[in-house]
Amino acid sequence: MSVLPLDAPTVLRPRRLRAVPTPTPGAGALPAVVRPDPVPLVTGGLVDYAQLDHGASTPALERVVRAVDAATRTYSSVHRGTGWLSRVTSAHYEDARAEVARFVGARADDVVVFTRATTDALTLLARALPAGTPVVVLGSEHHAALLPWPSADLHRLPVPHDADDALASITAALAALDPARTGGPQPLLVVAGASNVTGEFWPLERLVGAARRHGARVLVDAAQLVAHRAIDLERLGADWVAFSGHKVHAPYGSGALVGRRDWLDAAAPYLPGGGASAAVTEDGTRWATGAARHEGGSPNVLGAVALAAACATLREHREVVAEHEAALTARLLDGLRAVPGVRTYSLLGPDADRGPVATFTVDGLDSHLVAAALSAEHGIGVRAGKFCAHLAVDALLARAGAPGQPTATTAVRVSAGLATTAEHVDRLLAAVRSLAASGPGVAYRHDPEHGWQPLDDPRDLAVTSLW
Ligand SMILES: Cc1ncc(COP(=O)(O)O)c(C=O)c1O
Repeated sequence: MSVLPLDAPTVLRPRRLRAVPTPTPGAGALPAVVRPDPVPLVTGGLVDYAQLDHGASTPALERVVRAVDAATRTYSSVHRGTGWLSRVTSAHYEDARAEVARFVGARADDVVVFTRATTDALTLLARALPAGTPVVVLGSEHHAALLPWPSADLHRLPVPHDADDALASITAALAALDPARTGGPQPLLVVAGASNVTGEFWPLERLVGAARRHGARVLVDAAQLVAHRAIDLERLGADWVAFSGHKVHAPYGSGALVGRRDWLDAAAPYLPGGGASAAVTEDGTRWATGAARHEGGSPNVLGAVALAAACATLREHREVVAEHEAALTARLLDGLRAVPGVRTYSLLGPDADRGPVATFTVDGLDSHLVAAALSAEHGIGVRAGKFCAHLAVDALLARAGAPGQPTATTAVRVSAGLATTAEHVDRLLAAVRSLAASGPGVAYRHDPEHGWQPLDDPRDLAVTSLW
């Protein structure tokens, strides 16, 4: 019997293990997502569900389901046990970390901290800011990127009118805070990779360039970017990136903050406890450094595996996904813009590079009623409201208001993606045309608790337990 030497690493080298022992479709084919059962219509019958709410959460990839199933059959404690399965599970967890690093083009010395989602990742960095750090953020950001910063030196900039306006106001704010001029602390610019309201891609190279020229660091909120486009931290020169598993075709409960380790290592642990502590004596605690410092408690290994399987799949299929989405984007936007009585919205201007997302209103119709009718009568899932970006939506709607006409207070967001077919978009366009021309096809009532509901709905929402 061979015995490992005492000083041998207690964790298997991740590269020797295959975390996802399943074949993958060729890079030329779209990766398969889980297809739900047909859904019932209020008018009777069943229809293929048109999931046009990818911006909120994306359906799981089949490969993710297989990876989670495999991990569920073997999981054991992570970095806490000597048993073989603990070693295997710890290796899967670190393998997942390596894949996430690859997915975002991390530098060799960057740290990957697993979090619950983007909100958690952004809040983690907010808690780790060195005291007095000025933070620059556009008012158009999602609340997760807008709200977690200490108010002491927060520079919230107006919702921009277009990309040049955004660049000008960010550059002016950063120039005024430039440490070379002020002698003060290094500022942080927080910016989305893509808007969750319009799907437009922010000009990251130009924004990071401006930050670099003025001695600022950059955190990219990539929650709406990475399902559609790659990000390469090293090439871009940004300092951190945050994103969520449930927006890249992995289930809920996983996300990551990736980037420079210095501020994170100097900060108090995000979740003090086991794993985050290297040594505890009566005299005090020595905290771990690196990812462990902020991953206190037993980690979400299944979430990490799911996230990594999704990252690997998207990374391997970037071109085919981009082609699929470019066709959807053109179909969706050209189609909506051609419907009389429908207005579409943009933060960055008509020529902005964008993903397959459109935010629109229908003159004279409450956006929540439009969303309810799309669901009940057409089997289409979209989102209505202000999409956790109240300042952005308020500004867009106010700017579009015509004199003498009531201004819409909310909008509808259609967000397509990997699970979307051309038929889904065509069905949406036909439904919007009909809504704009003659309103909903059945009667609806509104109450404050449930919003708009069909007046007479024969469908039975009773679900049987999944277990
Ligand atoms: C741009 C953006 N940032 C952050 C978030 C927050 O993500 P999560 O809810 O996964 O924490 C979202 C969610 O919609 C988003 O669209």
